[in-house]
Amino acid sequence: MKANAVKIAEGVYWVGVIHWNSRTFHGYGIPGTTYNAYLVFGEEKTVLIDNVYRGMFEQFDARVRDAFVQEGRDFKIDVFVQNHSEMDHSTFLRETIEKYNLDAEIYASANCIKFLDAQYHNFADLEIKAVATGDELDIGGRTLKFISAPMLHWPDSMFTLLAEDGILFSNDAFGQHVAYSKRFDEDYPLDNLLKEAQKYYANLVTLGSPMLRMKFQELNDTGLIKDIKMIAPCHGQIWTNPEPIIEKYAEWGSGVCKDKITVIYDTMHHSTEKLAYQIAEGIMSEDVEVRMYFMQEDNPDDVITDILDSKAIALGAPTMMNKPFPRIGNMMYWLDCVNFKGTGSEKNALIFSSKGWGGGAVVKLQRDLEDAGFTVTDTLDVLFVPDEGVLDEAFEKGAKLARSIKE
Ligand code: FEO
Repeated sequence: MKANAVKIAEGVYWVGVIHWNSRTFHGYGIPGTTYNAYLVFGEEKTVLIDNVYRGMFEQFDARVRDAFVQEGRDFKIDVFVQNHSEMDHSTFLRETIEKYNLDAEIYASANCIKFLDAQYHNFADLEIKAVATGDELDIGGRTLKFISAPMLHWPDSMFTLLAEDGILFSNDAFGQHVAYSKRFDEDYPLDNLLKEAQKYYANLVTLGSPMLRMKFQELNDTGLIKDIKMIAPCHGQIWTNPEPIIEKYAEWGSGVCKDKITVIYDTMHHSTEKLAYQIAEGIMSEDVEVRMYFMQEDNPDDVITDILDSKAIALGAPTMMNKPFPRIGNMMYWLDCVNFKGTGSEKNALIFSSKGWGGGAVVKLQRDLEDAGFTVTDTLDVLFVPDEGVLDEAFEKGAKLARSIKE
């Protein structure tokens, strides 16, 4: 197989793979992705940073070999750095070590070493050295600085900074699930890229928001943030201009939201749907942006993406046998899992339901939303089909919710 390595700086190559037809990742929909790995040539040592996913070894290995040819160096890797152990970045670590140098130095965080062992059960004979913030490695004229980054997005996550060049190999952080033919941010419209990065952050990084804030604080305090000239993540495009994505991560991680409300609903006989439409009209009457999702057709990962920068949500489900309509359950599990509590933003919620007899959906949804970090500020529990009076009430509740986020 032939595949070209892409030079991203003097003596630094992208040797990752493009997974053109991948359509889900961690259960959320994607238009394909890349697993990025990087080969760094120092005067004395050649370093491979991260690895790729199953089924992708041939493409990866072809790029690795091409990087050696482009650089005119021997086919030998002296140092392996594993920033994170999840399989999409580590599947062929053992095979690559065996192929390119069984005596190589191997570095990872202490958690990564534990996690690699628990996933592959074949590292016991290799010495992997644990590194953390403050540890450095001289590779000949170039220095790797290791930066622990727990929960961005796993407990084992680590960044590696190629100090002299200011290239931050950030693994999953700052990534996007896209499968483009060119490798850099500047090759595609920035708005689209940031949209993909928002979806990625919302679904994969939200839980780590408190750690992200601490990490930014640390990078600012140590002055390292000013040294970052390029961010090379493990998925998607390489940020040659890191400013926009750093700015967005700072916003998302600290709960900066727009005057925007996400309305989410499911319906059986269109009664809850009528309430959803009227609530949206009420919100719009206050000049607040609405995003509307119908959970019979839409995907939770898109809803989560919009909730990330919404100041409030309105959530509706019919009542069925004294409980919320089960089809809303998938959405509720996503909300509980992603959990916006840590972003520091207080998100208000309005819950609405159409019921046949005793009700019960609103009570359960309230409990579940509060567990997921929302503040339920209002409810609307309607018997069967809403009449004009009830529709007016729904409109007013939408308007009231919109006013509450502008105060
Ligand atoms: Fe892209 Fe946590 O793996």
